[in-house]
Amino acid sequence: MKLDFVLRNRKRELHDCWDPCTPMSCILKVLGKGSSGTVWLVQPPDRSDSTLYAIKSASQTWQHCDVRTEETLLAQSRHECIVRSFGSILDRRHRKAYMAQEACLGGDLSQLLRQEGRLPEGLARTFTACITSAIGYLHSQHIMYRDLKPENLVLDQRGLLKLVDFGLAKTTAEPAHTLCGTPEYVAPEMIERRGHGPEVDWWGLGVVLYEMLHGHTPFNGPDQSEAGLPASRVDLFARVTNPFFKVTYDTTLSKPVLSFMKRLLRRKVESRLGHLGVAAVQEVNSSHHC
Ligand SMILES: Nc1ncnc2c1ncn2[C@@H]1O[C@H](COP(=O)(O)OP(=O)(O)OP(=O)(O)O)[C@@H](O)[C@H]1O
Ligand SMILES: [Mg+2]
Repeated sequence: MKLDFVLRNRKRELHDCWDPCTPMSCILKVLGKGSSGTVWLVQPPDRSDSTLYAIKSASQTWQHCDVRTEETLLAQSRHECIVRSFGSILDRRHRKAYMAQEACLGGDLSQLLRQEGRLPEGLARTFTACITSAIGYLHSQHIMYRDLKPENLVLDQRGLLKLVDFGLAKTTAEPAHTLCGTPEYVAPEMIERRGHGPEVDWWGLGVVLYEMLHGHTPFNGPDQSEAGLPASRVDLFARVTNPFFKVTYDTTLSKPVLSFMKRLLRRKVESRLGHLGVAAVQEVNSSHHC
């Protein structure tokens, strides 16, 4: 029995399965925890279905538009580098929403970076190709993702990197002004509340690529604070928006990768790689593979 069928027809049993207060053998383990809830690895009640699912709980109620937007935008996004959604239910008793997704069992990129420190250029390029492809696809669907960071990139069994967590995704139809996301990855135009568009995702890709290759983010590295401590949010934002603050790059990296990263991390939206939509997405791809 497929879980999407279960979602439609057997809500009662699923509520019981997913209730974290009930000891249930079908919850195999915790895959991760985020600010909005826990993600479990779940085996459906019908053991004839060997597929495992990731079930994400969201503490907000289904009426809360953020959860509904997350589920709607994820459900309409079909791409091999975006985690697949199988539907959602609202547990009225516990006032929680549950989202069923494809389970990616290789851990997330932040775990890999904690283990490895930094990644070899070849692997970073492969991961960048996955992210570029997913972000390019979302932009072509008029969706901006707005939360690129290693915790939101998970590896499947084949080693393919996939985007999860559409909690901050938004259609590009209306202008966006809200400052959101994780400080290290936030684009300057968002900090300055100038109004932002999908270019914030290309900035985010620049930060993630830098982190994969250097082992720390570009504006919050160990060399940027005298005490070696992470910068305060105010200091971090000041560096991101200050045109005179120069990011330090590892110059032993190959020229195409250095150039690609620098063009993504341009503060001026108009000169950033990826600006101007679909044509620029092709440029991002070809620039990366040159
Ligand atoms: N489909 C999945 N397969 C495997 N692991 C996943 C999946 N979805 C999420 N995770 C893991 O769970 C963690 C939390 O999930 P997610 O980012 O969706 O939650 P969140 O509460 O929205 O997070 P945030 O703190 O970014 O708001 C992720 O960082 C990842 O490690
Ligand atoms: Mg997340």
